[in-house]
Amino acid sequence: MNQTKAKNSVQHKKPTVIAIAGASASGKTLFAQTIYDELLPELGADGISIIKEDAYYRDQSHMTMGEREKTNYDDPNAFEHELLCRQIGELTEGNTVQCPVYCYKTHTRIDETIEINSTPIILVEGILLFCNEELRNSFDIKMYMDTPLDICLIRRIQRDTLERGRSIDSITNQYLDTVRPMYYQHIEPSKSYADIVITRGGKNRMAIELLKAKIRQLTK
Ligand code: C5P
Repeated sequence: MNQTKAKNSVQHKKPTVIAIAGASASGKTLFAQTIYDELLPELGADGISIIKEDAYYRDQSHMTMGEREKTNYDDPNAFEHELLCRQIGELTEGNTVQCPVYCYKTHTRIDETIEINSTPIILVEGILLFCNEELRNSFDIKMYMDTPLDICLIRRIQRDTLERGRSIDSITNQYLDTVRPMYYQHIEPSKSYADIVITRGGKNRMAIELLKAKIRQLTK
């Protein structure tokens, strides 16, 4: 190995990809965002980034609004996991990717992308991250938010009425038809793949501090 090659291999240390999975409204976003916000002053924007699985929902612009509203968004097939997996692979190779942007009101991808650069720490959060074997294997650390489902439902009602333009009727019908059954079929069993299970939601201070300490150790 020549000197330049040896130097490059030190400079391009493979990023660490940390996945945070769990039920809808279990506190994944809050947990990931808290870690990000609290480490940003130390690591800088070149040091840490977040990817949301939600951004990879398949585009449905070819369907009528009625068809879009009936779609099962809690089934693994609702996501373009192959694109997410490919983009994580690109990031771990040190490349930049164009991340899709998803709109919950229209159930489609918008005509823009967000550029994400490769960073030493990549946080990925989403409901079905551990259900696809190839995707699961791209994570170095796997965490699962084990929040009681009744708490998740209360949070989901609050969030979906305020932020996603949904009525109480549509939230409860969707919950009973797909969200709850898919949780028991796909999400809850995927907990067994987690390295660390977090109780008490996204505000669990000890869990936040432990992950921050691990990230500091990985980046020093
Ligand atoms: O942010 P969160 O993890 O809750 O996002 C996943 C949830 O978004 C899924 O449980 C799914 O039911 C919901 N969803 C939706 N409408 C879409 C896409 C996803 O209600 N168009």
